[in-house]
Amino acid sequence: MTASAQTLDRLDPRVVRYIDAGAGSGSTVTDNVAAWNRWKLRPRVLRDVSDVQTATEVFGIPLAAPVFAAPWAGHSLVHDEGEVATARGLRAAGLGFGVSSGASTPLDAVGAESGPYLQQLYLPEDRDLVRGFLARTVAAGAAAIALTVDHPAVGNGYGFRAGLAGLPYRPSPNFDGVDQRLLGTARTLGPADIAWLAGAAGIPVLVKGVVRGDDALVALDAGAAGIIVSNHGGRQLDGSITTAEALPEVVGAVAGRVPVLVDGGIRRGEDVIRALALGAAAVLVGRPFAWALANGGSAGVQALADDLVAGTRIAMAMVGASRLDHLTPDLLRWES
Ligand code: FNR
Repeated sequence: MTASAQTLDRLDPRVVRYIDAGAGSGSTVTDNVAAWNRWKLRPRVLRDVSDVQTATEVFGIPLAAPVFAAPWAGHSLVHDEGEVATARGLRAAGLGFGVSSGASTPLDAVGAESGPYLQQLYLPEDRDLVRGFLARTVAAGAAAIALTVDHPAVGNGYGFRAGLAGLPYRPSPNFDGVDQRLLGTARTLGPADIAWLAGAAGIPVLVKGVVRGDDALVALDAGAAGIIVSNHGGRQLDGSITTAEALPEVVGAVAGRVPVLVDGGIRRGEDVIRALALGAAAVLVGRPFAWALANGGSAGVQALADDLVAGTRIAMAMVGASRLDHLTPDLLRWES
């Protein structure tokens, strides 16, 4: 899903660039998408797929298929109702919502529409600010926190920086009115911060932005309850390993101790089943949901979410899998 012609006419070009941008040359944005297709599918046939079940639950969040909308900051940049419209569309389709700590709408209003959700967090150094935010998001219905760790600085690249600088961002309604741009970077973030957050949150803490097995183990030892394999949709380090290629190493290191999720370049049902066959418990989809919201509000979000559920069901049938746990690594071969 990309921006429609009407959307491009209506939106500030800086907003369009903010959503589309990648770091540097943008190579990782396109590589992420292409890499999933290098996992060639080896379908099983002659299996009964008359009753394909896609529904599951992750961290207490019920899902019609194991798919979340990835957290992205500032939904009100593209739609007046902001995150509330996204929440409504996702809930109607039964998919999960990853809410950014840079959300542009009050969390209680978002939670009332979404039901239990995944709260992403950039960890500001001011712990009082964090405690206030945690109380607010838990009261609004957050089921788990995803701490983003791949943001020690804003990614290189003129287009992305210029886009950010010009954005009509507002003070955050969820961080005591702090400018959202101040919430994004954490140069000193380390394992001790994960441990502190796991203690302070009172709900499971996932670590988002891991592409190496050794880092996943550091996060687990510090108290992470889940790992999100992510290179931030190619917005941080140009030339980063793709998430399709990184996922098996992380799944291997984690060895079933906690759920592993993945995002970056996942666009359709075939990608969803590839990620699950490699051991992911669920996936997150980023930019397509931003464009769905910009193009069609909550109805646009619902239509994309319905498509992803239906696409996952059909892809499962095609590879002879009627249950999510039939999605196993033998369904795939890496084409080098
Ligand atoms: C993001 N992403 C992101 N991640 C995060 O942890 N906190 C955030 O606030 C944001 N903000 C954000 C804004 C925009 C416009 C985009 C496109 C992305 C990254 C996001 O959660 C996810 O990792 C990627 O978008 C996944 O890649 P795809 O699906 O966009 O290729």
